[in-house]
Amino acid sequence: MNRWVFGLAVVLGGGLAGATNAADDAGHATHHPMDQAGAAAATPQATRDDRQLVAFPGMLRVHTLSNMRDHLQTLGEIQGALASGAFDKASELAEQRLGMSSLAMHGAHEVAQFMPKGMQDAGTAMHRSASRFALVAKDASATGDLRPALAALSKLNQTCVACHAAYRLQ
Ligand code: HEC
Repeated sequence: MNRWVFGLAVVLGGGLAGATNAADDAGHATHHPMDQAGAAAATPQATRDDRQLVAFPGMLRVHTLSNMRDHLQTLGEIQGALASGAFDKASELAEQRLGMSSLAMHGAHEVAQFMPKGMQDAGTAMHRSASRFALVAKDASATGDLRPALAALSKLNQTCVACHAAYRLQ
C-alpha cells in the first residue's frame, strides 16, 4: 500500500474510532474489558477473516441460521419488554427461547456433534447466560430496578459476540 493511502486510512480509522468512543462515553461512565474485546472483534474495517470455518450439513446450516435470526429477534423482544416494565415477560422470553429450556427446541444435541469443543462451550455459555438473565429479570419485577437486568442482558449479548468472533459456517 502506498504510504499516503496508508496514512489516510490510519487517520480515517482513528477518526471513526474516536467518534464511536465519544458516542459510547455519552452513555456509559465506565468501560469493561469485555466491551473492548467485543468492539475489537466487530471492527467494521476488517480485511481478513480469521474465524474458524465449521462444516455443517446443508439442512442443519439452514436450520441453525434460522435459529440465529430468531435469537436476534428475541433479544429485540426482550429489550421491548424491559422498556415497558414487563420484567416477567422478558424473563420468560429469555428462558424459553435462549436459555437452558430452549435446548430441545433448538435441537442442540444434534447440532453439537458438528461443533468443535470451543464452539460447544460458547453455545453453553450463551444458554447459561440467558437463564441467568431470566432470573435477574424476574428479580427486577420485585425491585423495579432495571439496571441489574440490563447488565445481565449485556453479558448475554457478549456471549453471542464471542462465538461470532471465533467461528463461521461453511
Ligand atoms: C455457539 C456459537 C454461536 C452463538 C452462541 C451465537 N451464534 Fe449467531 N451465529 C453463529 C455462527 C457460526 C453464524 C454464522 C456466521 C457466518 O458463517 O459468517 C451465526 C450467525 C448469526 C446470524 C446471521 C444469521 C443469517 O441468517 O445469516 C445472526 C442474526 C445471529 N447469529 C445472531 C445471534 C445472536 C443474537 C446470538 C446470541 C443471543 C447468537 N447469534 C449466538 C454462531 C453462534
